[in-house]
Amino acid sequence: MTLATYRDELAATASKLVQKGKGILAADESNPTCGKRLATVGVKNTENNRKKYRTMLATAPGLGEYISGAILYEETLFQKASVYGVKAADERLIIDHLRDQGIIPGIKVDTGLRPLIETLPNAKPGEHYCSGLDGLLERAQKYYEQGARFAKWRAVLKIHGDGDDDGPSERAVEENARGLARYARIVQEAGLVPIIEPEVLQDGNHTLGRARVEQERVYKAVFDACYADGVFLEGALLKCSMATPGAESTVEAERTPERVAESTVAALMNSVPKELGGVVFLSGGLPEELASVYLNEIQKIDRSGTFEKRREWNLSFSYGRALQHSALKAWSGKSTKAGHAALLARAQANSEATKCEYVARSQPSSDDHLHVAGYIY
Ligand code: 13P
Repeated sequence: MTLATYRDELAATASKLVQKGKGILAADESNPTCGKRLATVGVKNTENNRKKYRTMLATAPGLGEYISGAILYEETLFQKASVYGVKAADERLIIDHLRDQGIIPGIKVDTGLRPLIETLPNAKPGEHYCSGLDGLLERAQKYYEQGARFAKWRAVLKIHGDGDDDGPSERAVEENARGLARYARIVQEAGLVPIIEPEVLQDGNHTLGRARVEQERVYKAVFDACYADGVFLEGALLKCSMATPGAESTVEAERTPERVAESTVAALMNSVPKELGGVVFLSGGLPEELASVYLNEIQKIDRSGTFEKRREWNLSFSYGRALQHSALKAWSGKSTKAGHAALLARAQANSEATKCEYVARSQPSSDDHLHVAGYIY
């Protein structure tokens, strides 16, 4: 089986993932990152506790109304669910619970960030490339067999300041674009829809304008590399940050939903090919409420006809922190019911935001800032 055999299936999966009113739950934190999250609610980082937490997420009743797919870490894809009252012998896989709700299982396939400076001396300090190409086809085939239907690869690009030369180095842009394109093509050969994630980090104090310019530059390079590698764009999704000023910027006027939405849509309009399967946003450390408000505003701008060149892709969410933060706190290793209620509240809010129907604060949410500089997934 190759990309040619999977073409129709890839396009169908991509469009299901971004169907109106639904988005993706990113629950693919690596074990060390999951451990840091669990520690915030006093839960030890054991395989059993990760399984209990991810089971809580996967079994929230009605989650499938708002969530189309869930990105998982490899451990979770093969893990049995731990449901209260179910004997070990009768346990089903966590992905069976997701599929019961029509939620498509996905898998993080990159093997993490590596400092770019080690291999390319002319890169800027603090830049990375993303590893995981070795043996990727075989792993992707195994994941497909297990039930995964899409994949994620997260590359990060850093803005170093506000000048014209302060964007990610040319080498970092090229290296990450090539890695993303090769990954995308390889997993398509195994039937997985690639989520292509060149995350332009919020780290720093740059302006909104700088974020927009650098995002456009990065996405253009990524799609050039995708064309060069023959990636089937109808069967692929872009996952990106919204265009916001740097997390340390004090220019609050640039953080209004209107300004962020306008810059975000403009950057995408200028760089994303029409035939792409869809675009989903990461939350990147935005507070839960703001992530929903911005998404709602983006849909509003997008519908207003301000932009002459109409897109053909749907815009949705693929949030990690902005979907899980309150749910994790409410669960705290004890209350599945409270965890479910908090997760469903944010899932419903973001679902409404994809339809431009979210009324700010109509669902419980947190305003905690979730940004961490140099965030590793
Ligand atoms: P956040 O929404 O927490 O940024 O995570 C999304 C994600 O999957 C990053 O790769």
